[in-house]
Amino acid sequence: MMKIVTILGARPQFIKASSLSREIKDHEDVEEIIVHTGQHYDDNMSSVFFDEMRIPKPKYYLGIGGGSHAEMTGKMLMAIEEILIKENPDWVVVFGDTNSTLAGAISAAKLNIKVAHIEAGLRSYNMSMPEEVNRIVTDRISCLLFCPTEQAIKNLSKEGFDSFNCGIHKVGDIMKEGAMYYSKLSKPPLHFDETIPFNLVTVHRAENTDDTIKIKSIFSALNKIGENSRIILPLHPRTMKVIESLNIDTSDIELIEPLGYLEMIWMISNSKKILTDSGGLQKEAFFFSKPCIILREETEWTELIENNFNILVGSDKTKIIDTFESHVFNSNYEMDFYGGSQISKKIISIINEY
Ligand code: UD1
Repeated sequence: MMKIVTILGARPQFIKASSLSREIKDHEDVEEIIVHTGQHYDDNMSSVFFDEMRIPKPKYYLGIGGGSHAEMTGKMLMAIEEILIKENPDWVVVFGDTNSTLAGAISAAKLNIKVAHIEAGLRSYNMSMPEEVNRIVTDRISCLLFCPTEQAIKNLSKEGFDSFNCGIHKVGDIMKEGAMYYSKLSKPPLHFDETIPFNLVTVHRAENTDDTIKIKSIFSALNKIGENSRIILPLHPRTMKVIESLNIDTSDIELIEPLGYLEMIWMISNSKKILTDSGGLQKEAFFFSKPCIILREETEWTELIENNFNILVGSDKTKIIDTFESHVFNSNYEMDFYGGSQISKKIISIINEY
């Protein structure tokens, strides 16, 4: 029996983990133990995902949300180490680039437990992003690196990973597997007026929310666009706090509560355009054939920029508005960068053989 401890904590990880857990259920010789760090703790940021996506209940819930990066990561390290000593797994699986990813990987590596990193090799080359630090460290101490794209493989090569003692595999994007699976179950948010066309927006990245000039400029652009086009914005708690403290005008934007995944997928597939600083949503826009304007200066998903499906605009007000109004995007959504539907199957089989 192979024992895997999966470390989760933030919203996108619940989505990625759902596909892997479904696959593991089909393997009688694999046991999964889920640890939820508690990084995201509001019901609409966490438990709604476990309920509606039928992710197995975490065996451990650490309740470590909020605080500074060091405080959050430090507390997670201590709590995860204790669990790993008790459970003594063969593998620890971590996803993406959050503080929970980093804490899971370091705790395991220090105990000589093998780490598998899903969504490895991505780089923004912006070291001031907490996510960039998290992914570089996690990649370096992982035994198996599961890359979603060709670009991710190239990034690792450039950093010399080919000569490190680790396995690097391009398996495709596990988020796509989840998006395709749950699209069949998608549903509109309760009481949502479906008759008026809308654009979908999310903003939550620290690089935007923690910079007063950037966040004001982004919202000023969104509010201006909202005068003539409907803008729906499910609000992340971090962004809500900033809007309140800076008293930002959102009068022409429809702010709504964070959405569950089934509703989010419905919103994406029924929107006209998407504006976002989220990593996941950039790709989900592509999966559901929607043009996407990225409110950042750089991205990890460069293939979508190179092929003009998405465009980087940063936080400049005029650029956001002009791009929204007049940019002509590529509409050949048949192109495939992210692989098929059997990604978690490949991952489990590679872990099994390692
Ligand atoms: C984290 C990840 C980011 C990912 C995002 C997905 C890191 C460094 N960042 O950012 O990569 O894209 O999750 O959403 O790990 N909060 C609540 N309720 C919640 C969750 C958070 O009020 O359920 C508050 C926190 O207390 C904190 C703020 O929102 O004040 C930000 O949360 P945090 O987990 O630090 O980072 P995210 O911005 O969510």
